[in-house]
Amino acid sequence: MEQKLGNLVKKNVVNSVFQGRSLLAEKDFTPMELEFLIDFALHLKALKKLGISHRYLEGKNIALLFEKTSTRTRSAFTTASIDLGAHPEFLGSNDIQLGKKESVEDTARVLGSMFDGIEFRGFKQSVVDDLARYSGVPVWNGLTDEWHPTQMLADFMTIKENFGHIKNINLSYMGDGRNNTANSLLITGSMLGANIRIVSPKELQPSEKTTELAKKFAEKSGSRFLITDNIDEGVSKTNVLYTDVWVSMGESDWEDRVKLLKPYQVNMETIRKTSTPDDQLIFMHCLPAFHDINTDYGHEIFEKYGIKEMEVTDEVFRSIYARQFEEAENRMHSIKAIMAATLGNLFIPHV
Ligand code: CP
Ligand code: NVA
Repeated sequence: MEQKLGNLVKKNVVNSVFQGRSLLAEKDFTPMELEFLIDFALHLKALKKLGISHRYLEGKNIALLFEKTSTRTRSAFTTASIDLGAHPEFLGSNDIQLGKKESVEDTARVLGSMFDGIEFRGFKQSVVDDLARYSGVPVWNGLTDEWHPTQMLADFMTIKENFGHIKNINLSYMGDGRNNTANSLLITGSMLGANIRIVSPKELQPSEKTTELAKKFAEKSGSRFLITDNIDEGVSKTNVLYTDVWVSMGESDWEDRVKLLKPYQVNMETIRKTSTPDDQLIFMHCLPAFHDINTDYGHEIFEKYGIKEMEVTDEVFRSIYARQFEEAENRMHSIKAIMAATLGNLFIPHV
């Protein structure tokens, strides 16, 4: 063992297969690398609970760029940076010139000269791709209109915590089947061997491009995915009922969505339709969620359309199946994992 380590050091091998890489979409990593990151996140969670220091990014500066609002992603990147010994700096869309007075390329070059890593949340995937192309430092996608990859690390970490494995888990996503979360679940699940069912009306099903990509990954991992508007078929014997908001950030067609998606609400009837034993079924939601009218939007929708709950009922949200808050906490542990692995010069010679 010592000899082997010595040879590796002599050969001056790169310390980590992850070092310097960006997470722009799930497909940037292999399925094995994603599983490694999930396991690493579980390890970092244990360290945090035990109060064991893990300051892998001592002295690093992290830029947090947000064009859209955020509670979890911003908090997770901030606390993860601090726990890792780095300094996070929040740069909201009204604070910097990005896109308005300065091109993405120029902004990326400037940020890359001062920061060691960049998180970006915004509209266009091309912006996060360009930040990575021109900054020369690792860039992590904190959500675009297309993908939500850091969410996936937390989600499949939560699944692994609950079931002990990811392979052969059935996950049924109900709702807007072509938003960022749905796209990412379909691809990540297909990569990791989970059977993803996108249960959505025809108008809101994944694009052909995303479906083709999922097919390629599913063939390799041996998983099966299903895209259907048939709720009974989509949720039968599932292990994870997952949903997301009906109208994503940057969209506004509430009336159409309420009409299209009302039948796809996750409620106790949906739970019954799964026929899954209680100990084999969980509910997940990336959050924020409209499960009551204690929000401005929730209240407005109630006044306009008379519904008090949208994608999930309050009953399911507070039920024994609910795991959305563990999932939210896991955002921090998993974001730590991706930041430390890609920026921390860790000794990970292969995965
Ligand atoms: N799930 C998620 O990304 O939450 P925020 O929008 O609060 O960051
Ligand atoms: N699909 C949602 C996810 C929020 C975390 C949105 O983009 O608004």
